[in-house]
Amino acid sequence: MARRRELLRVLGTEPIGLYTLLRLDRGTLEPGEPGQFFMLEAPGRLLPRAVSLCLAPPGELAFLVDPIGPGTEALCALDRGDAIHVFGPLGNGFRLDVERPLLVGGGIGIAPLPYLAETLRFPPAVLGFRSAAHAEAASLLPGAEVVVDPVLVTDCTLQGFDVLACGPEPMLQAIAARFPGAQLAWEAPMACGYGACYGCAVEIDGELKRLCTEGPVLVPSHRIDAGPSPATTRRVAASSVAPVATATGAPCVLAPLGVRDRGTQHHPAGGHHAA
Ligand code: FES
Repeated sequence: MARRRELLRVLGTEPIGLYTLLRLDRGTLEPGEPGQFFMLEAPGRLLPRAVSLCLAPPGELAFLVDPIGPGTEALCALDRGDAIHVFGPLGNGFRLDVERPLLVGGGIGIAPLPYLAETLRFPPAVLGFRSAAHAEAASLLPGAEVVVDPVLVTDCTLQGFDVLACGPEPMLQAIAARFPGAQLAWEAPMACGYGACYGCAVEIDGELKRLCTEGPVLVPSHRIDAGPSPATTRRVAASSVAPVATATGAPCVLAPLGVRDRGTQHHPAGGHHAA
């Protein structure tokens, strides 16, 4: 998949709960595979922001942004007709050859799941949020089971599925401990996005790896070392922009297995489907 940097036109921004869906004209950029990311250069900001592709309707690229700092706030403040430089697609996405997929997301970690859901023809999904206001973003994945703090996604019945997950590091660590074959999309601060700066390095299987090139989705044989390495702990913890629930609540039950009716899908971005 050819990556490139291009100046893209903003088609609009839409509030999705406390997040913002940023819609861009695709230009000549390829959407890539679900789980890959793009570097978005906010106006007036020195460093770009790495953001997973959320939706890929024809002619568009759409990104779910959590306005947690100056860079992401600048992205959310863009107006229709503005232009920003975008570089991608980057990194490794989810492996799609799974028999019984279950999508699991936490907070802003749900960002890559709508595109993944469309690609896999809408498998079951469970999403966790820290508040009802944040949980409004579940509208991007109609039919998903939604839990809100203090209930955790790991309180749900996940057995019997091929888990594909993205969310805060403690959530991914908990899933990795219980489901060794899970595909996990890790988050990390990224400066370059293509392996040049080592700003995204974490310890995996005892070696320092760059999440922008080795990940962000790690194959099942890979493990993030949760040990006492200060550098690893700092970098992984710093990537946790999504909320983390801390108490165990009542168990939830997922909807029955099976592919969901594609016709029931609705996206606030205009009901688009992946191209
Ligand atoms: Fe620069 Fe990964 S972000 S090496």
